[in-house]
Amino acid sequence: MKDIDVLRKDFPILERKINGKPLIYFDNGASTQTPRCVVDEIERIYYTGKANVHRGVHTLSQEATAAMEATREKVRAYIGADSTEEIIFTRGTTESINLVASSYGQLLADGDEIIITTLEHHSNIVPWQLLQQKKNITIKVVPLDANGALDLESYRNMFTDRTRLVSVAQVSNVLGTVNPIAEMATIAHRHGAIVCVDGAQAIAHMKVDVKALGADFYAFSSHKMYGPTGVGVLYGRKELLNAMPPYQGGGEMIGHVSFGSTTWADLPYKFEAGTPDYVGIAALSKALDYLQSIGVENIAAHEHRLLRYATTQMSEIPGLRIFGTAPEKSAVISFLIGNAHHYDTGVLLDQLGIAVRTGHHCAQPLMDYLGVEGTVRASFALYNTEEEVDAFIVALRRVASMLS
Ligand code: ALA
Repeated sequence: MKDIDVLRKDFPILERKINGKPLIYFDNGASTQTPRCVVDEIERIYYTGKANVHRGVHTLSQEATAAMEATREKVRAYIGADSTEEIIFTRGTTESINLVASSYGQLLADGDEIIITTLEHHSNIVPWQLLQQKKNITIKVVPLDANGALDLESYRNMFTDRTRLVSVAQVSNVLGTVNPIAEMATIAHRHGAIVCVDGAQAIAHMKVDVKALGADFYAFSSHKMYGPTGVGVLYGRKELLNAMPPYQGGGEMIGHVSFGSTTWADLPYKFEAGTPDYVGIAALSKALDYLQSIGVENIAAHEHRLLRYATTQMSEIPGLRIFGTAPEKSAVISFLIGNAHHYDTGVLLDQLGIAVRTGHHCAQPLMDYLGVEGTVRASFALYNTEEEVDAFIVALRRVASMLS
């Protein structure tokens, strides 16, 4: 991996002081920071290249369209999809999963069953519950083992001849557990079910190949992969997307509109109603270039080193409990210190310049399962360092002595 000190210079925010202390940004599971090349591209487009896509013959519109379609191709190649028709731009992972639940959901029948898991984010629970208000479907939930890994034996036994779909996170945003998607997909496909993967916490932290995973749908967000906010992606297998009804109606998603009847545009536009965030999409292209220039495998190795380094030292702090100890784990550490409230811990860490997330992490059913109201979560990215972990450990010891 390139020299971290050099890489850190790409992220001006890392030079900030928070409460008089150098910022230590450990809230990457929520949003990663944005490198200069991405911000420069946004600025360049707003100053010299802004025009709507697809709607004009004029040069600026053609440039904007070309930039958006170039990003689509880059995303396709990045995740190993067959065709750009399978890459739909959305507002984020949440919208991508809502698209699947709302649109593919219409193809389900009363009595059908879907499978999700205990460690899902609300965005992979609530869309299916909304679908339940329209269709009488059953949602089954895969339990966890003591380490926070999925109980695959239970998963295997959940399938019936009515199971139509499995929707599962590749990486838990709370426990860091990396789920065995390829194995789960093989089992699902054997039963004729399809697999939707929430890739929000995976896409910037490991190599993702949708075909090797056996994902029929794969959802992720730009703002968690060093890109701009407000842009997401849904990959879907062409055959499934073709069979699905549109998600939203409006401009760009139609073939022909009349008051009598309306036809739909071809893929992927059928699912892209309205003006997309074409500036953000074009800038996502720079984020992908940036990620690839470092190499996601190198980033993964670096983050795993930090994960091991931090976990070992945190385990030595009296009263500190780590939630999530699965053997396959991404660089996310949820914890509590003694009886200290997660919020108090987060506020004290902030006083020391350290940004972590606290609360239920949009995973309340998982919190219920863990028997806690919330946790503190540190999550790492490519620009974090061992020195930052050292400062974090000193801070945690201070917090532990203040709050216990
Ligand atoms: N889903 C994001 C997180 O886990 C916001 O923090």
